[in-house]
Amino acid sequence: MERELALEVVRVTELAALASASWVGRGSKHEADDAATEAMRKMFGSLSIRGTVVIGEGEMDEAPMLYIGEKLGAGAGPEVDVAVDPLEGTELAARGLGNAISVLALAPRGQLLHAPDMYMEKLAVGPQLAGRLSLSDPISTTIRKASRELGKPLSELTVLLLDRERHAPLIRELRELGVRIRLLTDGDVAGAMAPCYPETGVDLYVGSGGAPEGVLAAAAIKCLGGEMQGRLMPDGEEQLQRCAEMGIADPARVLRTSDMVGSGDVIFAATGVTPGDFLEGVRYLPGRIAHTHSVVMRAATRTVRYIHTRHDLSLKSVLRSEQAIG
Ligand code: FBP
Repeated sequence: MERELALEVVRVTELAALASASWVGRGSKHEADDAATEAMRKMFGSLSIRGTVVIGEGEMDEAPMLYIGEKLGAGAGPEVDVAVDPLEGTELAARGLGNAISVLALAPRGQLLHAPDMYMEKLAVGPQLAGRLSLSDPISTTIRKASRELGKPLSELTVLLLDRERHAPLIRELRELGVRIRLLTDGDVAGAMAPCYPETGVDLYVGSGGAPEGVLAAAAIKCLGGEMQGRLMPDGEEQLQRCAEMGIADPARVLRTSDMVGSGDVIFAATGVTPGDFLEGVRYLPGRIAHTHSVVMRAATRTVRYIHTRHDLSLKSVLRSEQAIG
């Protein structure tokens, strides 16, 4: 993939974030998601790629836009796999809570795991713990190994996971081990990325969340030098069948970062919708000016760029048609 693409793609997440931002806190997660999806799809039309959606808004018959298999891009340029979540954390955006982002990943064709829409058990760590832990180990072993590797007592180790009923036994075990826990209401792409950002104070991300979100997080984590491991959790015959259809022969296998995003180049971009751990949210300034904060990274060079952008909304024809912004 050409390196210029890394700067081009950020326009896509910026526009999606801008489109959904006017829905923040309005209690309408579907409208916020639809606005982001429509804007993202329009912007993809201007990119010099021949893209195929491998992770998107759903199957062709259930999603009108950015569905799995949809072809994207201006019809020239490299053939790429596209993974998108136009609004990751729809509930966060609808309730005006932090860490909602618009996010995408691109990789050479055939490189991204076609993760089915089901849960995935996850273990994500930053560069210091990369290659040191295994999702196959019991959590107590993982925690003790992490504490040794980082030279931190258990009481200073911070573990992040989604606040879900299904995690009650895991939370109990973590508490018994004596580590610090942070619970997320939603948004496990940003959650899984947190251990790669020392300023978050998070050492490990654990627990289950969406498998598609797992692949998106793996793309970012690869660029940031951390490690992501995942194990699909098919529930019932239908989901097992789905794994098989998507070319995943053994769903019980622990997937490493390279199983999810390949061994070559990957580009990851995200724009904050609401303020989060590593991105500011969309801010509206007087005079129909909006400000966005994005990150774009590339695995080939591990370059991580932050981009602050000032947008004159009166000149954004794509957004002008948005009922919410008009
Ligand atoms: P949406 O943006 O699709 O609402 O997903 C939010 C999210 O928190 C993801 O980040 C996470 O992977 C998934 O939901 C967890 O699913 P569940 O809410 O069923 O635990």
